Amino acid sequence: YVIGVDLGTSAVKTVLVDPQGKVAFEHSEAYPLSRPKPNWSEQNPEDWVQGTLTSLRRLIEISGIEPSQVDGLSFSGQMHGLVLVDAQGQVLRPAILWNDTRTTAQCRKIEQTLGTKLIEIARNRALEGFTLPKILWVQENEPEIFAQAELFLLPKDYVRYRLTGEYGMDYSDAAGTLLLDVGAKVWSPEIAGAFGLPLSICPKLVESFDQTGTLLPEIAGQSGLLVSTKVFAGGADNACGALGAGILGEGRTMCSIGTSGVVLSYESNKELNLEGKVHFFNHGEKDAYYIMGVTLAAGHSLTWFKETFAAEKNFDELLQGIGAIPAGSGGLLFTPYISGERTPHPDANIRGSFIGMDSGHTLDHFTRSVLEGITFSLRESIEIVRDSGKEITEIVAIGGGAKNETWLQMQADIFGASIVRLASEQGPAMGAAMLAAYGSGWFASLGECAEAFIHSADVYRPDPEQVELYNGLFSLYQEVYGQTRELND
Ligand code: XUL
Repeated sequence: YVIGVDLGTSAVKTVLVDPQGKVAFEHSEAYPLSRPKPNWSEQNPEDWVQGTLTSLRRLIEISGIEPSQVDGLSFSGQMHGLVLVDAQGQVLRPAILWNDTRTTAQCRKIEQTLGTKLIEIARNRALEGFTLPKILWVQENEPEIFAQAELFLLPKDYVRYRLTGEYGMDYSDAAGTLLLDVGAKVWSPEIAGAFGLPLSICPKLVESFDQTGTLLPEIAGQSGLLVSTKVFAGGADNACGALGAGILGEGRTMCSIGTSGVVLSYESNKELNLEGKVHFFNHGEKDAYYIMGVTLAAGHSLTWFKETFAAEKNFDELLQGIGAIPAGSGGLLFTPYISGERTPHPDANIRGSFIGMDSGHTLDHFTRSVLEGITFSLRESIEIVRDSGKEITEIVAIGGGAKNETWLQMQADIFGASIVRLASEQGPAMGAAMLAAYGSGWFASLGECAEAFIHSADVYRPDPEQVELYNGLFSLYQEVYGQTRELND
């Protein structure tokens, strides 16, 4: 067996995976998130460590396997979160998470100081969620804490350090810090130097499938595993999600709809420059990359809508009637900018809208238009990927958005591509387990591992008439941002 540990924002999930790629057992442990001030989002790294140890121990208990049957474990982690440790490895302040947006001033400073160098080196724009702005925030606002900082880590790298006693960070997660020279795969002295940061605060870089140690004796005791269990570096949750959906190979693309929505496409050309319109990160596979667009409030828009207007229904009941509503929701158009947007509009202040309401509209019209608006927003990312020269005819759908058949067909019609649903979808935890399986020598490549582990269940093909109709509506949708931006200022 191998174990995948997915260190998420609300919980840690562990999966025990057999050599056929089947999840034999899984277990989750939740932990709190604190919002001490507006725009702040923090977690206590100790909660991650205790949650992970409890989840591992429970996983071994419920499975009934012998700990010696576990070859290795690896991680998927929430990206970008800042953990600062001192020379003794003690955490200096609560972790500042990816969805914390206190750093607008630091982002402007980074863009002004580095100019075009930022995209050339870090390959991404400065967004509030990324790590470098968070480091600068601490440097400016908590100098006494910053003075004690020996090293910065990302969430899963801190947990792995506590499990093994070894520091390290893999390229796929390091790419989300804005301190990595993404193409050259080294920390950038130019970026660090521009902000007076010594390179020594950056941990050693490793590949996602590299072994970074074994379990410390006291950790082995607490987790129910053996000291000899191999621990592999792991990757960013999006990189692991890509592995778990089999996104290995040029042009392979996925659309993940969870709280946020992600369009992610494999990229082998490290020189590709999309001017920061989409994220450009290192993949979990060696020397490969992926490009990624994000809709901040994807599933979140639907949850908000349900809680606000149809709280008595569950999701299945809410979506039951949308198949009877024609494409275009009877002229109702929704933009999902209810908590700002990332791609293609990196704008934290824009807000969403319903346009075209009339007295004939029912709850079903509104529900369908929410799904259409979310899907239009994701299509904007797909068009950026297409503009880079990729032909996208097939997209793997994962997350909550892959659970409803009408929505899957809608994705095929709005994206103008076949939508593939997986037979068993485990998300980033499966990607983490794949890194452990490949690292343990079960397969000659991650591609071989994906062939053995990932299978598709069914395909939704685009209907040419609906595609045409949606193409027209998509053009209208694209105009709304420009027309409403000023209203939100
Ligand atoms: C990616 C991002 C989120 C987090 C969620 O840029 O901010 O997807 O990785 O954990």
